[in-house]
Amino acid sequence: MSDQKMTGDVYYPSPEIVQSAHIPDFDAVHAEATADLPGFWGKIASADFEWYKPWRKVLDDSNAPFYKWFVDAKVNIVHNALDRHMRTATRNKAALIFEGEKGDTRTYTYQQLNHEVCKFASVIRSMGVSKGDRVTIYMGRIPELMIAMLACAKVGAMHSVVYGGFSTEALLSRIDDSDSKLLITCDGAWLRGKIIKLKDIANGAVDRAGTIQNVICVKRTGHEVEMVPGRDHWYHDLMALPIASADAETEVMDAEDPLFILYTSGTTGRPKAILHTHGGYMVGSATTLKWVFDIKPEDVWWCAADPGWITGHSYIVYSPLVNGATSFMYEGAPTFPYPDRWWKMVEKYKITILYTAPTAIRGLMRFGESWPNRYDLSSLRLLGSVGEPINPEAWKWYHRVIGAEKCPIMDTWWQTETGNFMITPLPSVPLKPGSATRGFPGVQIDVVDEEGDPVAANEEGFLVIKSPWPAMMRTLYQDPDRYVDVYWSRFSEQGWYLPGDSAKKDEDGYIWVIGRIDDVIKVSGYRLGTAEIESALVSHPAVAESAVIGVPDEVRGNIIKAYCILNAGATASESLAEELKAHVGTEMGPIAKPSMIELVDSLPKTRSGKIMRRVLRAQTMGQDVGDLSTLAD
Ligand code: PRX
Repeated sequence: MSDQKMTGDVYYPSPEIVQSAHIPDFDAVHAEATADLPGFWGKIASADFEWYKPWRKVLDDSNAPFYKWFVDAKVNIVHNALDRHMRTATRNKAALIFEGEKGDTRTYTYQQLNHEVCKFASVIRSMGVSKGDRVTIYMGRIPELMIAMLACAKVGAMHSVVYGGFSTEALLSRIDDSDSKLLITCDGAWLRGKIIKLKDIANGAVDRAGTIQNVICVKRTGHEVEMVPGRDHWYHDLMALPIASADAETEVMDAEDPLFILYTSGTTGRPKAILHTHGGYMVGSATTLKWVFDIKPEDVWWCAADPGWITGHSYIVYSPLVNGATSFMYEGAPTFPYPDRWWKMVEKYKITILYTAPTAIRGLMRFGESWPNRYDLSSLRLLGSVGEPINPEAWKWYHRVIGAEKCPIMDTWWQTETGNFMITPLPSVPLKPGSATRGFPGVQIDVVDEEGDPVAANEEGFLVIKSPWPAMMRTLYQDPDRYVDVYWSRFSEQGWYLPGDSAKKDEDGYIWVIGRIDDVIKVSGYRLGTAEIESALVSHPAVAESAVIGVPDEVRGNIIKAYCILNAGATASESLAEELKAHVGTEMGPIAKPSMIELVDSLPKTRSGKIMRRVLRAQTMGQDVGDLSTLAD
């Protein structure tokens, strides 16, 4: 692409950044990958990873959309994340630097992290956890969360991490759906100076879940918690027993064996269990981190997400370790005790790459430049953004105030389902604030109309992905039909993947993601399904029916507005609305709490009874409600 011809507000990388990048020439690598996709990934998989046994075939597309990658190969992602580093000088390098909200710090070298993972793997093995089992993990952002995930992967069990911001009902439904036999949790987590009582919430779920045999609890906050004798065990007690042997074998897995499931919200009520595998996920997530964030041995990488979401799975836990990088993890809130907390840590730990969400940037922007300006942020060389479209104003603030106009911003578009970055710049690519630029090498992205024809430049259409990639989800756990239906049926003739986002493509082929086309709402970058919030509302005795929509918000991207029809006998009042908000908080978690509740007598529905959320959205925002011909009443 000729730089001279690019339209709009373009930020070009400096020659130094281009020269030092792993991939200085995006176009050449993209062309190579497009010409021979299996050849491209096969070459990377051989060069950068260790396999117990090589593959027979890189890509098997004979049963699409159930694609297989690295067919018949044997591997374990933990072998690549930890075991192999024990043979090199990497073993003495910091794998993880942690700071708690109260200021406590811990550093684990690769060797120390491996030691803990081996011991904990022995512990869960002794409890009968083995290949193919499911283990639910429900914890705060602490090193033991990483240790627990890696220990599961090491013994071949699938972890199912449930974000610590979810509550009892959300945890219970995810335990039940996965038939987990073990729950790993902690007494509490520090957030904004307060304790989130995770063990109490977990007790509420485990008492009702049928399958959990054992609960392991990490002591973090030290407050009094209820431990059920025989079922519940303290992590530190188990790790002090002879069964916690540091001599633990890493299970030999098939490349296509499941590594984890991760629940994410969709259009209908039940959350979807996205399934990722050891082989393809390892190759894709590690390669995207290396190329997009240009990971070098001296970097201190900070992905400020939570391991409870895909961003943390791929870019806090697995890919930094596979790359032998140093990761930083922070437990608490960015504004605790003051809005300079993040900048203070960038200076203290000499963070070189910071990856966060637009909502966090907008939130910190509100406090003004004087907070970051007090610190030396000159260690930073690259910045990143993920989770929702970044508005150009926030992009420019991040670029100017945090990045001193020298750090390119990698705006990465991807999903729980995709496992790794899909639309993203590399450091060598010219940037346009608000655009995630183009497909990663080998990823064929387009924006199309109802028929699948490309739309004209700058027109809105469906985002589609036209080629498979190694880290793609393999299925929805125990629900292959829904996998085909949700993601592959809209453009089944063409065999394209439908992410569920709308987008535009400009004259330069740059993609501008607009937002979801389904009933998924992004609140502060968190992905929430309207259906799950609605069922939390109707579980309250006063509510007969409800509809939930997202309303645009300057900092959080969207906030939740709920409409409720009350049961006969219930009386509408301000205090009832407050009670309903709190009810959603208890049932689903604080992140799902509606900001606004409107108690109504009826809801706009189609003649077949489907709630017309677009009518509610238009009304709320004072817009034209559009075509009402399908409205029942
Ligand atoms: O709508 C897109 C938005 O987040 C959705 C995926 O959410 P989740 O599975 O929770 O994964 C989030 C982190 C990978 C997408 O369908 N999204 C994610 N990144 C971006 C984005 N929207 C615009 N720009 C992005 N960079």
